[in-house]
Amino acid sequence: MPEPRALSPWIRRFAPLVPAGAAVLDLACGRGRHTRLFLARGHPVTAVDRDVSGLEDLAGQPGLEIVEADLEDGSPWPLPGRRFGAVVVVNYLWRPLFPRILESVAADGVLLYETFAAGNEAYGHPTNPDFLLAPGELIAAAQSQLQIVAYEHGYLAQPRPAIKQRICAVRADRPLVLGLDR
Ligand SMILES: C[S@@+](CC[C@H](N)C(=O)[O-])C[C@H]1O[C@@H](n2cnc3c(N)ncnc32)[C@H](O)[C@@H]1O
Repeated sequence: MPEPRALSPWIRRFAPLVPAGAAVLDLACGRGRHTRLFLARGHPVTAVDRDVSGLEDLAGQPGLEIVEADLEDGSPWPLPGRRFGAVVVVNYLWRPLFPRILESVAADGVLLYETFAAGNEAYGHPTNPDFLLAPGELIAAAQSQLQIVAYEHGYLAQPRPAIKQRICAVRADRPLVLGLDR
C-alpha cells in the first residue's frame, strides 16, 4: 500500500462545500490523496490520470471510478457531458483543459483548484511558465461562469517552499457560504 500523503489544506478546508453525496472529479489525481479524502467523506469519485498505478490499492472500492486517460495528447475529453459536485485539480496545469474543467462543475458544484504559480522558479520545480499560473489566472478563468469564494496566490512553506495559487469557486446560482472553519 502506498505511503499516505498529506492532503492539501486548501482542499480539506473547502471539502465541506461539496454537496453531500455529490460526485467528485479528481483530475490528474496521482496517487489519489484527494480521491481518498472524498471517498472517506461519502462521495462517489471519478479519478483520472494517465498513470493510475498509484490507485491500485483502491481497486474495487465502492463509489470509485478510475479513468486512465492522457489529457494532453489531443484525445477527446474522457468525460463528455458529465457534471460533478466538485472538480478537484491539484498540482496540475494544462490550460487547454480550462473550458472542460469549468463545464464539468454541476449547477450546485464547486471548483477546487490549487497549483504552482509565478514566482515558484525561485524555490524549485516547476520553473517552466507553461506550468505556472500567472497572477489572477484562476480568477480570470473561472469568473465568467463561477462565483469566487476564496482565492490566494503566495508563498507556502509546507510541504516544501513553493509559490502556489488556489481558488474555491461555485456556480453563480448558488449562495456563497462564508466562515468555514480552517
Ligand atoms: C504532481 S502530480 C499531482 C497528483 C495529485 N493531483 C496530487 O496533488 O496528489 C501530477 C499528476 O498529473 C498527471 N499527469 C501529467 N500529465 C498528464 C496527462 N497528460 N494526462 C493525464 N494526467 C497527467 C501525472 O500522472 C501526475 O499524477
